[in-house]
Amino acid sequence: MKNLTKTIVFMMLIGLSQWSFAQKNKNTKLANKEAFIQELISKMTVDEKLGQLTLYTSDMSVTGPVMRDNYKQDIMSGRCGNIFNAYTPAYTRKLQDLAMQSRLKIPLLFGYDVIHGHKTIFPIPLGESCAWDTLLSEQSAKIAAAEASADGLHWTYSPMVDVARDPRWGRVAEGSGEDPILGSAIARAKVKGYQGSSLKNKESILSCVKHFALYGAPIAGRDYNTVDMSQQNMFNVYLPPYKAAIDAGAASVMSSFNEINGVPATANKWLMTDLLRKQWGFKGFVVTDYTSINEMVNHGNVANEYEAGVAALNAGIDMDMQGAVYMTYLKSAVEKNDVKLADIDAAVYRILDAKWQLGLFENPYLYCDESRAKQTIMTTANLEAAEQTAIASMVLLKNENNLLPLKTSGKIALIGPFVKNKRDLIGNWSGAGNWTQAKNLWDAVQSRTAGKATISYAMGANVTDDTLLIQKMHIQEFIDKRSAETLLNEAIAVASEADIIVMALGESEGMSGEAASRSDIGIPSNQMQLLKTIHALGKPIVLLLSNGRPLTLSWENDHIPAILETWFLGTQSGPAICKVLFGDANPSGKLTMSFPRNVGQVPIYYAAKHTGRPFDNSQKYTSKYLDIENTPLYPFGYGLSYTQFIYSNLKLNKSQYKEKDTIEACIEVQNTGERDGYEIIQLYVQDLVGSSTRPVKELKKFAKLHLKAGQRKQIYFKLATDELCFYNANMERVLEPGTFKLFVGKNVVDVMETTFDLSAK
Ligand code: BGC
Repeated sequence: MKNLTKTIVFMMLIGLSQWSFAQKNKNTKLANKEAFIQELISKMTVDEKLGQLTLYTSDMSVTGPVMRDNYKQDIMSGRCGNIFNAYTPAYTRKLQDLAMQSRLKIPLLFGYDVIHGHKTIFPIPLGESCAWDTLLSEQSAKIAAAEASADGLHWTYSPMVDVARDPRWGRVAEGSGEDPILGSAIARAKVKGYQGSSLKNKESILSCVKHFALYGAPIAGRDYNTVDMSQQNMFNVYLPPYKAAIDAGAASVMSSFNEINGVPATANKWLMTDLLRKQWGFKGFVVTDYTSINEMVNHGNVANEYEAGVAALNAGIDMDMQGAVYMTYLKSAVEKNDVKLADIDAAVYRILDAKWQLGLFENPYLYCDESRAKQTIMTTANLEAAEQTAIASMVLLKNENNLLPLKTSGKIALIGPFVKNKRDLIGNWSGAGNWTQAKNLWDAVQSRTAGKATISYAMGANVTDDTLLIQKMHIQEFIDKRSAETLLNEAIAVASEADIIVMALGESEGMSGEAASRSDIGIPSNQMQLLKTIHALGKPIVLLLSNGRPLTLSWENDHIPAILETWFLGTQSGPAICKVLFGDANPSGKLTMSFPRNVGQVPIYYAAKHTGRPFDNSQKYTSKYLDIENTPLYPFGYGLSYTQFIYSNLKLNKSQYKEKDTIEACIEVQNTGERDGYEIIQLYVQDLVGSSTRPVKELKKFAKLHLKAGQRKQIYFKLATDELCFYNANMERVLEPGTFKLFVGKNVVDVMETTFDLSAK
């Protein structure tokens, strides 16, 4: 018996030492990334290589037209190396188990659209951008990454950095608005937040910059439509945010659905190889958007899917999302010499490199930890951060006679489809967010006013009465089936009893986002009827807006005394809005997209060019509309506060600068009101004469300042002359001497102004 025990212990020791030898051996091998990956590639069959270039959705949910059957068999046979739309530690573990049954046991990479939070949902990106706060942007990405990685995910399809200047395009909701400088700052912050300082840290995930490129400029604002743009506009306006994200170390890039000047992005070698890799030095991998290789047959730049696959691989696309084109056709393309095996190997290398960086070869189950999911997801701290971000994202558009903030007394009626609504609050692309956990306005106001004010409610109208739209958005279950008249009468009765009326109106979440372009960007007509009817009662009205894009609000601006833009603020919507409504928080957001007066002005953006016939109302032949002003209703950078800020003493350190100088601007800002508050200060430049015409104003710097009531502070901006460079007609990045105007102010219109000269050399 004693001997037997000895033998067992001895054998265990041998086993242990063999295991630790194998482990050590594996670790030593793993330490040399390049050798490890190259050795792995040398063992792979062509099918296994194409498997690594293949990304399929799981059966959890889909965002596009094609479902892939048998993806689980594909994983086991090494024909699928990457999965999206699968999360939770248990489910990803189950799928990873399948990959561990494949011949080479290469771990799966799990991707997902974690766009504005994973389970704790933050404001939609357009809303969050109105905070002009890169630390908040980074923080929300960091929390999203921590929650997503704890839920089994490795990779998010974010940030979306497409500059967008046409609010008809529904996807403006997913980006940071119309400006390249602000967009670039937010892009950098997002990448930093998702990826942290090292991808080895299991709280970090790979980011994916999308949609490369120019997806935000479809003709007429119709999603997926053609993009036709000058190179100058690309390089001066649309490309900088992608570049900023890549310079910040973004691990992956997603190709866009659109064509660019005749060649779809997914087959665009100039874009994917010459610009992205050669000029910008991008080292990560490029994934297509959903079936965008297949869709090139519809674009008409190729005759069939075989040609589409060849064109995509040869352009520099590494991974095929959902379309199975690489898997189906590239083996024969190699045999026919239409693609080089070396190019496939290079693409495989880049994907294995990402898996290596995430630590998946050391432990494929690193992100499948149930206990971490429980500790990390929807914690009090995460919810607080979401609420803080929601508060910072709101934009006060109008506040006549300081109607806001409301007093917690009297009779307050809350009317509209967004008062008790939870479904829409988390917005679209709300990932794994559960809308039933979102907090609505009604509950928040009830607890805030308990025992102090009387509150009452009527829905007044459905979000829309358009039956076709209701069908398209799958919102039948949220529709109150009573007649429009009954709903309206109920609202009139409730409003008639009230001292003040808060109306929560807007778009449902599905009216913006992907495939949700609108030609009329007003509040839906049935809600407008409700608003006009209640307005006719002659009582004070506060209008709260929920929406994913700039809306046309001319009537509202003319008739309603207080308007607060609340976007879709996420899980903590209700408490955040309630805090601003009753003055527990002071709104400070500023618009990152111009709000047009009517849709005929679209596209409208502040950094426009002069024309040869500038607007002059007294002259017929000048650039204008006969029926509306040229200016937007609410300009870029605009937003009010419950306090007032006065700007004075704009000064520059010099009036003449040379090429290597730094322009130092200083301005004084004083909070002259009675409340503490944040002010977002913006610095713009106008280059008066350029070899190519220059925009009337370009944002160059911004800062967010906290000022106590009565407090005055000086704020300094440093602008390198390099930041005045632009791409000229020969596509050279140049700094041109001459006179510049420099403006500092509270929005693009309301500014102080000075000038400086830049001399050659
Ligand atoms: C969207 C992408 C998204 C992808 C995966 C596509 O339809 O354009 O933004 O990342 O689906 O869900």
